[in-house]
Amino acid sequence: MTSDSGDQVPAQTTTIVIMGASGDLARRKLIPSLCSLFCKGRLGPEVRIVGMARTRQTEQQFRESLAEGMEEFAHFSPGSDAWDEFISRVGYCYGDVTSQDDLENLDETLRGIESPGQPANRLYYLALAPSLYGPAVLNLGATGMARETGCWRRVVIEKPFGSDLATAQELNQVVHSVFSESQVFRIDHYLGKETVQNLLVFRFANTIFEPIWSRSYIDNIQITVSETVPVSERAGYYDQAGVLRDMFQNHLLQLLTVVAMEPPSNFQADLLRNEKVKVLNAVRRPTLIEHGGTRGNHETSRIAVTGQYGGYLDEPGVPSGSRTPTYAAVRLDIDNWRWQGVPFYLRSGKALEDKRTEIIIQFRKPPHMMFAHEITANILAIQVQPHEGLHIEFQAKTPDEKMEMRPVDLEFHYEDSFGGMDLPDAYERLLLDAMNGDASLFTRSDEIEEAWEIIDPIIQSLPAPDHYNVGSRGPEAADDLLAKDGRRWLDPHSRF
Ligand code: BG6
Repeated sequence: MTSDSGDQVPAQTTTIVIMGASGDLARRKLIPSLCSLFCKGRLGPEVRIVGMARTRQTEQQFRESLAEGMEEFAHFSPGSDAWDEFISRVGYCYGDVTSQDDLENLDETLRGIESPGQPANRLYYLALAPSLYGPAVLNLGATGMARETGCWRRVVIEKPFGSDLATAQELNQVVHSVFSESQVFRIDHYLGKETVQNLLVFRFANTIFEPIWSRSYIDNIQITVSETVPVSERAGYYDQAGVLRDMFQNHLLQLLTVVAMEPPSNFQADLLRNEKVKVLNAVRRPTLIEHGGTRGNHETSRIAVTGQYGGYLDEPGVPSGSRTPTYAAVRLDIDNWRWQGVPFYLRSGKALEDKRTEIIIQFRKPPHMMFAHEITANILAIQVQPHEGLHIEFQAKTPDEKMEMRPVDLEFHYEDSFGGMDLPDAYERLLLDAMNGDASLFTRSDEIEEAWEIIDPIIQSLPAPDHYNVGSRGPEAADDLLAKDGRRWLDPHSRF
């Protein structure tokens, strides 16, 4: 979201090269998002898309498979004329990213379609298995395809970026040996979600919230990303990753940074990311919670609870006896002036009772109650998805009663306030930003490494996960994590 990049249409020759184009991401997300941008007039006439993959298929077969993907996954129908026009801009090139010859061949194909005399701008999108990021980047370097001579060349790298701090550092080194940081766009699709961007507007384009956005008024913050889907056919990847690598190191920590960061002086990529890095840097490292002398495992287990849903071990591809957590709840503390003493409780899991991403700010109770009445503290609930919007709960007097009161709800919902406007998919925003060279909503190398530094020790010292039932709220131990701090999860049904 920049600097209104959303309204800019890339006018120069730009080729989006999807590497790993026969995979799920291209069909499920990238092509529907690009088609939607095209229909909204946001892909200039000179923008083309070339898919590269190891599948031997003709351009026609590739286009047909994308059409099927649209039917299955897109939230809109472009209509046949628009689709025909869009798909006529999509080409296919067979190739293996680990082969320099294949990349040279791709380079030649791209040169063939780039307009002579126009800058040959390229966005390489690595929709690949993570183990191929390094080889693909090195081969882009070796073939000279990363060189910016009178044009720009950028690379978009999907998550997971590394599987721990050491591998993320290695990958950053490889990437920096070929691309400068300004050419690199590490994607975290949560930052492309409208509500997450709105959080920046909510905090920094209003004056009424920021003065109370600190330890003086806030008791605790809860970030929940709950999913109903099980792991299913992704077990091969997921069992290696587990929920802490799959969701916490990226999406949940990104949400935390947007909630907790200081206001940057300008909406500019590096200023924004500097503030996010400062927050991550101030997150107390789990291994440092050891002032009492007891170390590591014991202390980490005080701040992290994990679970595995019943039946996970029966998913095809999950090794027997796997201890991979499909759920985690973690308490983090931020050691700075604004947040000292305010716990951030993060949780996420698969196969839970509902699909919901929500950030709850629980305020403190009034310092003194003049009413002889037990009350709940004010809550601000930011609903990232679904029903995007926010709620503020406050006490109101019950009419016609003595001095009785109960919490009531002040709501804002996108569908009511911006009726008729569809919320764009996160990938639309991010693809457009990458084409416009705006990295504000992408993760910088130092951010990625800070995040691993927080998550690594938790992963290293996890006990066996607790069992939880499919369709439940997760393991009971997650409630105990808050109960021992005298708090509870503020789920929608337990708020009033
Ligand atoms: C992905 C994870 O990054 O995010 C998935 O790999 C998860 O496991 C997905 O399901 C959730 O994204 P969203 O946008 O559906 O909340």
